[in-house]
Amino acid sequence: MNGTNNGNTPHLAYAPLIIDGTRIKMRSRVAGQLVKLPDDLPLPQIERRRSSLHGWGVFALERIPKNRRIIYYSGQLVPSKESHVREADYLEEGCIWCFELSHRWAVDANFGGNVSRYINHACKPNSYTQIIDGIIWIRASRTIDVGEELTYDYHTGGTAEIACQCRPDCTGII
Ligand SMILES: C[S@@+](CC[C@H](N)C(=O)[O-])C[C@H]1O[C@@H](n2cnc3c(N)ncnc32)[C@H](O)[C@@H]1O
Ligand SMILES: [Zn+2]
Repeated sequence: MNGTNNGNTPHLAYAPLIIDGTRIKMRSRVAGQLVKLPDDLPLPQIERRRSSLHGWGVFALERIPKNRRIIYYSGQLVPSKESHVREADYLEEGCIWCFELSHRWAVDANFGGNVSRYINHACKPNSYTQIIDGIIWIRASRTIDVGEELTYDYHTGGTAEIACQCRPDCTGII
């Protein structure tokens, strides 16, 4: 997965990269540590439930206005090269857990991941991802109603070779 913006850039608050609870400078990233923000962020209520799209999904428990930050993608910070090796292993089980943060780094939600790791892909999603100061945010691309499943476009370019089931007539490959 990678963090292609949908071109819709709302006002951005500063969000420093926090690794293992410590705010760090961009140049001092350390492989293996966790990208993690405080637990008490004022984010909308969401929950993991079984999805008709695939396995587990994540659903809105409240109405979420367009562009609101919903959750961030937490996990272990790994160099890209290592993430490619891990992703190949995960894909053997049909899973995608690594999110590209940059050319050099990825976040592996298989370690230290939060509920964002269960958000499914859709070709016409209701959310988008945006990287701000080293944090991968998932934001609403339109108003999301209570009970709707959250989705974003994984932008894998078909590399995972998984047939997309985002809608009955979808012919996309994730
Ligand atoms: C980050 S996980 C999402 C959570 C997943 N549903 C689960 O139960 O673990 C990504 C995996 O979910 C599946 N997936 C996500 N979106 C999908 C879609 N639109 N169509 C088919 N499979 C999908 C793929 O197997 C993918 O590797
Ligand atoms: Zn699709």
